[in-house]
Amino acid sequence: MNPFSAMNLFRIQLAALWLVLGLILACQKQPTPKRLEGTIGSNGMVVSTHPIASDIGLSILKKGGNAADAAVATFFALAVVFPEAGNIGGGGFAVYRTKNGEIGALDFREKAPAAAHRDMYLDANGEPIQHLSTRGHLAAGVPGAVAGMVALHQKLGSLPWKELVQPAIDVARNGHVLTAIAAANLNRMKAEFQAANRYPIHLVRNDRPWQAGDTIYHPELAQSLERIRDYGNDGFYKGKTADLIVAEMQAGKGLITHEDLANYRAVWRQPVISSYKGKYRIISMPPPSSGGVALLQLMQGSENYPLAKWGHNTAKTVHVMTELERRVYADRATHLGDPDFYQVPVKMLLNPQYNRSRNANIRMDKKTPSTEIKEGSVDRIESLETTHFSVADKEGNAIALTTTVNGYYGCKVMVQGAGFFLNNEMDDFSIKPGVPNQFGLIGGEANAIAPHKRMLSSMTPTIVEKDGKLYLVVGTPGGSTIITGVYQVILNVIEHGMTMQEAVNAKRFHHQWLPDHILFEKGAFSDDTKKQLEAKGHVLVEVGALCKVDAIRVRPDGKYEGAADYTRSDGKAAGY
Ligand code: DON
Repeated sequence: MNPFSAMNLFRIQLAALWLVLGLILACQKQPTPKRLEGTIGSNGMVVSTHPIASDIGLSILKKGGNAADAAVATFFALAVVFPEAGNIGGGGFAVYRTKNGEIGALDFREKAPAAAHRDMYLDANGEPIQHLSTRGHLAAGVPGAVAGMVALHQKLGSLPWKELVQPAIDVARNGHVLTAIAAANLNRMKAEFQAANRYPIHLVRNDRPWQAGDTIYHPELAQSLERIRDYGNDGFYKGKTADLIVAEMQAGKGLITHEDLANYRAVWRQPVISSYKGKYRIISMPPPSSGGVALLQLMQGSENYPLAKWGHNTAKTVHVMTELERRVYADRATHLGDPDFYQVPVKMLLNPQYNRSRNANIRMDKKTPSTEIKEGSVDRIESLETTHFSVADKEGNAIALTTTVNGYYGCKVMVQGAGFFLNNEMDDFSIKPGVPNQFGLIGGEANAIAPHKRMLSSMTPTIVEKDGKLYLVVGTPGGSTIITGVYQVILNVIEHGMTMQEAVNAKRFHHQWLPDHILFEKGAFSDDTKKQLEAKGHVLVEVGALCKVDAIRVRPDGKYEGAADYTRSDGKAAGY
């Protein structure tokens, strides 16, 4: 057959014409907007606030460790490279979901020492003594971090404990390079470090300010970690480290004793769970964190409004979310505390009927003013830091873990000879009914100080299932704003169709009943939205960054999308 026959030439010309036409049409077609996605991984993902910690977690996954192994290694790495909040002198919470769908919640929250008492931060007139619950030895609760990691490893870990602690020891001994943010944080805190410590601490530099790129070493912390590596709980709660903590307490009139340390236990608890629109299941942290209960109340309330139709951060959406938040935080102030000491009415608070009737008086045209209890006079008096990380492994096991020493570097007291800071978590108690803590949160009987009691938290490590499968792993620091931060990021994905990275990057806002105003990040609202919100009676206050969310989404193709809060922190999503 002659390939150049007239018929064939005609066909070739026709095909060429179609090709050209197709190309022209393709060029004219609107380009589909490129979605911003975080790090993609098929086998595992660790998202934390520090690249070194994320990489250590990833290396554990790569050598065959599971999500719990990676979480333990990431945790200890953060204690070295992110002393702002990473810790062995603090506590936290974790929520897990195994590949088989089993779920659980770990409480390694600090406890009040045995010698603590209700009025310990009040003067003779019954007024709070400034800074007593936030700075110095008396602010520290009994640390839960090490017991938490031991418990997590015992229940869910697969690699030997020593292999999970060792990477952090190596970094502490061999040094690590400071980021610009880390250097600035240390410089900013220099005077406070000097005021709180009786001896020079290695994080204070006297020749010149710390700079990005400087290498920092933590030899004493390395020794403390070695004791933990070798003896687990006994390497911290007994022996040399315990002696050093108690000596530090005695030197600074703190309360923590050998008995307090030896008696500390991490506790496994049942997560709180609520379904959302039938398709999703939200699994979160129960009391003594208020985070899970409050988040689920917010999600229940949101089900009744067409948030997707209204759109992200429009006046209607922000108004309704604010009204829900106002009611939920009022509940938090009264009803939430340590369930081992106070009967927290979790069932009532998570009853859909309760939430429906509580939200029934939300009006669309104006806000409901927050009333009665004296408004907190401050938004932020201390610098705040906590840290959250999310892990998922190749089998589909996932862990959301949030840990804190409460303020930046806790109570600023470094245990002499042990190289780590103690927390100032005692401020999370209600030190006097109606008196706001450093987050402006108020409380009463449910969260009053008592010996051995755990202080109420807002930390909200959360896992979301979609159609019965792992979907989101999420959490954040941010004190009282943690709950609303997690709430927004979940809605951003579920209702507003965002990728994980878009949901994390999106600008945030926050309301907590008292003080009665909406905090918002610059750029969160258009001018028109602001006008409409003000017309409904809302007071708007612009603030810096709200929360630092580190989260994972399972994409429809089954791959993980890890999203660190790059615009607000040094975070990194490390996946493979
Ligand atoms: O447990 C809590 O709710 C607080 N201690 C958390 C502190 C915090 O998130 C500070 N961070 N930015």
